[in-house]
Amino acid sequence: MKNEIEKIEQEAIADTSACKSIEELKEVEIKFLGRKGLLPMLLRKIPELSSEDKKTVGQMGNVLRKNLEEKIANRYFELEDQQEENEFFDITIPAKPLEKGHHHPISMMICHIEEVFSRLGFTSISGAEIDDDWHNFSALNVPKDHPAREMQDTFWVKNIDDHVLRTQTSNMQIHYMEANKPPIRIIAPGKTFRKDSDATHSPMFHQFEGLMVDKNVSLANLKWVLKTALSEILEKEVELRFRLSFFPFTEPSLEVDASCVQCAGKNPNCKVCKGTGFLEIAGAGMVHPNVLRNAGLDPEKWNGFAFGCGIERILMVKYQIDDLRLFYENDLRFLEQF
Ligand code: DAH
Repeated sequence: MKNEIEKIEQEAIADTSACKSIEELKEVEIKFLGRKGLLPMLLRKIPELSSEDKKTVGQMGNVLRKNLEEKIANRYFELEDQQEENEFFDITIPAKPLEKGHHHPISMMICHIEEVFSRLGFTSISGAEIDDDWHNFSALNVPKDHPAREMQDTFWVKNIDDHVLRTQTSNMQIHYMEANKPPIRIIAPGKTFRKDSDATHSPMFHQFEGLMVDKNVSLANLKWVLKTALSEILEKEVELRFRLSFFPFTEPSLEVDASCVQCAGKNPNCKVCKGTGFLEIAGAGMVHPNVLRNAGLDPEKWNGFAFGCGIERILMVKYQIDDLRLFYENDLRFLEQF
């Protein structure tokens, strides 16, 4: 039986190297190693041998099986290589176009906003998406149990006392004033979170905050800065309209409307502004003295304005997008339009 094993070995090695194609090699593999191949058939006879022979023949058989498997695998690689070399390669076929990606429209808008405000002397800062109650609410003149907290449906963080997913970028006003002395001119773009979800609300959305603190800052300064910046951001000269409103951290507080980027108030049937000629675009106001005090500044000496604006809202107005969820679905048919 040892002789037979040696015979199979010689024959298999010779056949393997003689193969000219992958198909031929497959046949050789089946002939020697297949379920009914020469080697397995021979090894099936081992139980008939004496216990002495069982051991040596069994070992020889296993070694041979491993060797053959390796040889055949190597031969497969060689034949595949040869096949590729023989294939016709047409070097005149034009290359496939390279698909180029780009930033998400929200990121692009944040960059644009930063660039516009930097020309107006505003530094962009970012920070705390998970923040404590103090920075997100209390220091902004919204004490515990104050009804104004109901204005924002809040995600509270489990297992960390008094921490929230920030409901507004206004928390950055406090962080910045705690660490820096006036004059202050900052914007703070970033993610914000509220328990809310429909075509115009998402549990995660983006805002940018603005804060200017100096001596003798006025509402006129606020109006000029916002008008100049929004006109550049929306790429359309806009007029602003201020309506009195309420925010706990500003006094007076304002709702800011921009003239309709679509019809500028000239089309009574305009779908974007519904014929009103204006679009609500930001909340703003003069920083409440309590807020300055909470952040360690003397309201007798310093004053300022603040504003907060939804980034998705700006994109929706600018590009007439009617469903906020499009920003988060990552559908290339949508994203590639930017
Ligand atoms: N934080 C407000 C909100 O999310 C927006 C806001 C309003 C920000 C007035 C301000 C401001 O800085 O002055 O609804």
